Amino acid sequence: MSAGAGLAGVVAGETAISTVEADGRGLRYRGYAIEDLAAHARFEEVAFLLLYGELPDRRALADFEARTARLRAPPAAVTAILDALPGGVHPMDALRSAVSVLGAVEPERGFEGQEAVAERLLAVLPALLLHWYTRIDTGIAPRSAADGAGLAEAFLRMLHGRTPPPTHRRALEVSLILYAEHEFNASTFAARVTASTRADLHSCITTAIGTLRGPLHGGANEAAMAFLDPLADPDAAEAAVLDALRAHRRVMGFGHRVYRGEDPRSALIKPWSRRLAAEARDERLFAVSERVEAVMRREKGLFPNLDFYSASLYRFLGIPTALYTPLFACARMAGWAAHVIEQRRVGRLIRPLARYTGPAPRPYVPLEARG
Ligand code: ACO
Repeated sequence: MSAGAGLAGVVAGETAISTVEADGRGLRYRGYAIEDLAAHARFEEVAFLLLYGELPDRRALADFEARTARLRAPPAAVTAILDALPGGVHPMDALRSAVSVLGAVEPERGFEGQEAVAERLLAVLPALLLHWYTRIDTGIAPRSAADGAGLAEAFLRMLHGRTPPPTHRRALEVSLILYAEHEFNASTFAARVTASTRADLHSCITTAIGTLRGPLHGGANEAAMAFLDPLADPDAAEAAVLDALRAHRRVMGFGHRVYRGEDPRSALIKPWSRRLAAEARDERLFAVSERVEAVMRREKGLFPNLDFYSASLYRFLGIPTALYTPLFACARMAGWAAHVIEQRRVGRLIRPLARYTGPAPRPYVPLEARG
């Protein structure tokens, strides 16, 4: 492995959007601690902060919420293509395709209106996802995009067809806030590379969704649930973790490139998972998750990242496992757009160098002479 493998420890650019504090002890969005945002802010406040650089006042927030609620309905040209996708496709594939088609149907014409395009994407992504999911997977007619509500409530209303209880709405909102932004993570960096070529916003977001899909990144919340689902009780969890580690398999939802200790986001999402477990009178999933956490800490010194307790939380919210990663994408859309806008201001093509490890120079041998 070369010193630069995975660009670990490499400072690859500058950003004013968020920062992981020294030794991974905290995370701030534009200077605000995630603890404060998770305790007090609405998701739309955070999305506004990321996109525009400052927290909105009452009026600006109301305008932003009204604008994004109005922008939620997906265009028929895109839903028609979603309807034509085969039933078994992964929702991340559907979402990636939808954004790509949206870029053809509603192209970004110049960068002057980039904030409006970002708002449109932020609003429409969950509606596109749920249009596709409720139609294909359950065979029922798509539910209308729930307008007049923030992203968390709209998502739960579109999914379940009813207004969510306040604790469910807030739990999802906290999760969306924590998922909204994370410095130069893989999908954001990928989006910035695309942005650096002066490509349109839809191309940048399509790139980001493709990068988020993998199990080492956003796909980990889904993979964590797949691991937790068959575990009957904490003792079974202990055995399953030890088996996985013996077989040198990774336990998804643990470890992080920039947090070698605790992921500060995990400490904020875990209490919500505990609270909803109690409300649901769950006696298995939360207890099993805690045992997995204890064994990973004891055996490997590894801590849960944001994805781990998000998995059980989403289960308690009645969100199907296949929607975990696309829901992450709906939240991260705010951070991706902020980074694309920032990268466009930098204006310089991202094109690093590679250290060559291939064959030494050699003469071309014509095909006839190769036999
Ligand atoms: N389970 C078991 N062992 C692990 C895990 C894990 N989840 N994560 C890291 N390790 C081990 C590795 O096997 C390695 O051990 P070794 O030195 O004995 O070979 C050591 O810890 C270091 O691992 P690296 O892969 O070098 O760490 P890196 O910084 O490259 O990886 C990553 C970070 C990809 C997140 C890794 O911890 C991982 O694969 N975790 C599981 C996937 C996951 O949860 N991803 C979500 C990230 S957070 C997010 O996207 C919101």
